[in-house]
Amino acid sequence: MSTNTTSTYSDFHLQFIAGEWQTGKDDSTNTNTNPYNGDTLVEIQQATKDQLNEAYDAATQAQEAWAKQTPAARAAVLYKVVNILDQRQEEIVDWLIKESGSTRIKAMVEFGATRAITLEAATFPNRVHGEIRPSNTPGKENFIYREPIGVVAVISPWNFPLHLTQRSIAPALALGNAVVLKPASDTPVTGGLLLAKVFEEAGLPKGLLNVVVGSGSEIGDAIVEHKASSFVSFTGSTSVGKHIGELANGGEHIKQVALELGGNSPFVVLKDADIDQAVKAAVFGKFLHQGQICMAINRIIVENEVYDEFVERFLSHVKTLQVGDPNDQGTAIGPIINEKQVQSLRDKIDEAQKEGAKMLLSGEINGQLVPPHVFTEVTREMDIAYNEIFGPLIGIIRAKNEEDALSIANDSMYGLSSAVFTADMQKGLRFARGIRAGMTHINDIPVNDESNVAFGGEKNSGIGRFNGEWVLEEFTRTHWISMQNEPREYPF
Ligand code: TAP
Repeated sequence: MSTNTTSTYSDFHLQFIAGEWQTGKDDSTNTNTNPYNGDTLVEIQQATKDQLNEAYDAATQAQEAWAKQTPAARAAVLYKVVNILDQRQEEIVDWLIKESGSTRIKAMVEFGATRAITLEAATFPNRVHGEIRPSNTPGKENFIYREPIGVVAVISPWNFPLHLTQRSIAPALALGNAVVLKPASDTPVTGGLLLAKVFEEAGLPKGLLNVVVGSGSEIGDAIVEHKASSFVSFTGSTSVGKHIGELANGGEHIKQVALELGGNSPFVVLKDADIDQAVKAAVFGKFLHQGQICMAINRIIVENEVYDEFVERFLSHVKTLQVGDPNDQGTAIGPIINEKQVQSLRDKIDEAQKEGAKMLLSGEINGQLVPPHVFTEVTREMDIAYNEIFGPLIGIIRAKNEEDALSIANDSMYGLSSAVFTADMQKGLRFARGIRAGMTHINDIPVNDESNVAFGGEKNSGIGRFNGEWVLEEFTRTHWISMQNEPREYPF
């Protein structure tokens, strides 16, 4: 166990199973590279299904004793995790930059969100509570208990790896569960192994958190189907999420799932909006982390009267963004996570042009650096508007009026986040309530996450809610126990 907080963590080539750092036993290797310069960061021998079974066995065994610990004891581990995160902030930010291509700004945003959800989770052991409900049966008392689920499977993505992993594992552990986690193959360190080091240092008992590094296509199904877990918390693409939903509730299983999937956030600018502020918000809400955020602005919808003015000001702001080394303080747009994602963006640029969108801003794609691309005269059915982009490209759609803007905003199979800009708060509220999405922000960006507020989407953006009491419910099970205090009369 590492206790010296002044030395940086090492041994990220190992798996963390049953509280031990062990070599993966599969023949395949995960070569973890820096998306900006291609440097190899670490080579990880991947885990086999036997090692996955070992992780589940350890989790099952450790969970019972953990659930019986006092709330104060579980909370203490989470508070210790917060302290360690603080002490190691620079080390963690450095990993986020070199492993996930985060700019410094994004890495700090992610660090802050991770810290906040850990702090929130530390309050959960003492916040979880049951209920007593009246009974219509004479002599009966009804008790509703909230209990830990048991072993939770967590599968996380590469874009906000530290936060989107911690957002599941911190509440899960705080509430008395054990975890088997598979981080994304692009971010095994920030998505899992680094957090395992932190929890280990904080004194989390062995076996409660297992990090199994392996390819989703190789061991993903086995993680979901394993009989030891009855809950799967997945964050990632809609296609893999649908597959996981089917797997978890097909064959022999009926498992609870939380699915946080893709998005297509509309950013609506109504004609009375403060255009300066809307432009600033649109640029940040679109280009933070190169647009690789599920809540990132995917469509800008502007009312006709202010369309030209918005486009002009938006373009001149976007032209000031520095593209390059994410470690450089001045960089706004760093690298795209991998070559496959770069190719998908190239395809989208070609498709937008083919479909007749006007490309007002472009630039040369250099390795994994994709400069901002801005398209105007985009219509709602074009690929760049209808499908998730996950990169620094944006289409701006002209709306005839407020009603048309709302209709365009809702014309999506996704329903995660959204935003509307207007000077009239009542109009903003009316508009926001008309949007079919889990989250809408008036006069702000759609990229928002607060550890005490319900986070999640609907339609193809998934099911379930994170943060605050919503995640507290998600990671516990409800158990109705009744007590018949006097003999009950039965009809026969
Ligand atoms: P995915 O390809 O779906 O990968 C997410 C995770 O699923 C990774 O750990 C991946 O492992 C794993 N996986 C892949 N195939 C699997 C399978 N058959 N069974 C089980 N697990 C499997 O998504 P991504 O490329 O990481 O992230 C981009 C997408 O995620 C975007 O659509 C984005 O909108 C969405 N996303 C949504 C949110 C929220 S909060 N709604 C947050 C972030 C991202 P490997 O890496 O080993 O393939």
